[in-house]
Amino acid sequence: MNNKWILFTLAIYLLLGLMACADDIVESPVSFEATPYVFSYGSLPTPDIPSDNKLTDQGVKLGRMLFYETLLSKDNTQSCASCHQQKDGFSDLNRFSKGVEGQFGDRQAMPIFNLAWHYNGFFWDGRAQKLRDQALMPIQDPLEMNETMTNVISKLNNEKKYKDQFKRAFVNATIDETNISLALEQFMHSIVSHDSKYDKYLAGKEKLTEAEERGRLLFFTEFDVTGKVKGAECFHCHAGPNFTNDEYMNNGLDNDANFTDLGRARVTKINEDNAKFLTPSLRNIALTAPYMHDGRFKTLEAVIEHYDLHVKNSSTVDFLMQYNLQPGGLKLTSENKSDLIEFLKTLTDQSLVTNTAYAKPN
Ligand code: HEC
Ligand code: HEC
Repeated sequence: MNNKWILFTLAIYLLLGLMACADDIVESPVSFEATPYVFSYGSLPTPDIPSDNKLTDQGVKLGRMLFYETLLSKDNTQSCASCHQQKDGFSDLNRFSKGVEGQFGDRQAMPIFNLAWHYNGFFWDGRAQKLRDQALMPIQDPLEMNETMTNVISKLNNEKKYKDQFKRAFVNATIDETNISLALEQFMHSIVSHDSKYDKYLAGKEKLTEAEERGRLLFFTEFDVTGKVKGAECFHCHAGPNFTNDEYMNNGLDNDANFTDLGRARVTKINEDNAKFLTPSLRNIALTAPYMHDGRFKTLEAVIEHYDLHVKNSSTVDFLMQYNLQPGGLKLTSENKSDLIEFLKTLTDQSLVTNTAYAKPN
């Protein structure tokens, strides 16, 4: 063997060695690495994150990948984000959302934010007790993504990025129903809205305009039968930091004869719950038209008209609607109405729609 040949052989060995090393780096086994996910929630109370599913960077990331994943649907065209769009406050501007089979449901999509402060069930009728239970329902709903969990799991198993991310996020590294639901729960819990103009006003950082301030007073004032003080009575039900009391109520949309959707009673099977629906948060309300469980009102103006003059009496209408039900209703002037809307608009948090932490991952 001449020297040249020896050098050549050595060079080949060296090259192979380097390639092996490079291979090692690429294929270095991904492992479980749970680092706590840190997020701020302003002046909202401490969020109710379940102790068995604390948020980790890796779990939230996985949940976010899944939230934007079309493989979760039967024909691989629809993701959660198709009906829960970030630019619309994670809701759907269509009255009823279209599923993969081209069929429509009969309820308006609900926005997704501050779900860690929901203490009394999910969906308009509260049929899911925990967010993790909720998360698997749209996947299997024939009117929504219409896919089986078996298919979802096998599709995700074919994707290296998911195999890796499940390893990073969960000790048992398994792509299964439980881990899919836990990851989606983590991502949805991470979507927090606490930086509206109204929050800044409460923190003393911003002032309300005169119209917004008049609207704020109307919102938080009781109806006065003597007519001396104007009050629109909104705060009893749209209460607390998220503008909801987390109760199922009937705000007078229909009389008994027109109860087409029995709402809470579909779950509890008791007549007292007929046509009761979860009081929705009013945060970001200007972003999430149309309104009510069936999206019947296109605008906030129409919502205010309803509360002022068109509340219907029925066997389950809430007693707080007693003044709305009187002839002449809340007796709001057109200025009162536009002031109320100006106030509602201060509940919009632009950072919710622009925060890249909630956007489609690359
Ligand atoms: C075809 C449209 C559509 C798709 C796809 C969809 N949703 Fe929804 N979502 C809705 C509608 C409509 C509702 C209200 C349904 C009801 O109350 O009966 C809703 C309600 C919810 C709620 C309840 C929020 C609350 O305040 O109680 C959550 C959470 C949610 N969806 C998460 C998801 C997740 C996670 C996915 C993906 C796995 C998903 N959605 C896919 C339309 C959709
Ligand atoms: C008796 C309790 C109650 C009172 C008082 C009340 N609301 Fe509501 N509000 C509800 C309930 C319950 C719903 C959902 C009803 C449904 O969809 O069937 C709702 C829905 C809404 C919606 C639509 C939310 C969405 O996401 O579609 C807006 C906006 C709203 N209310 C604003 C107001 C304003 C403004 C006032 C005061 C004028 C007010 N509410 C007074 C209980 C109440």
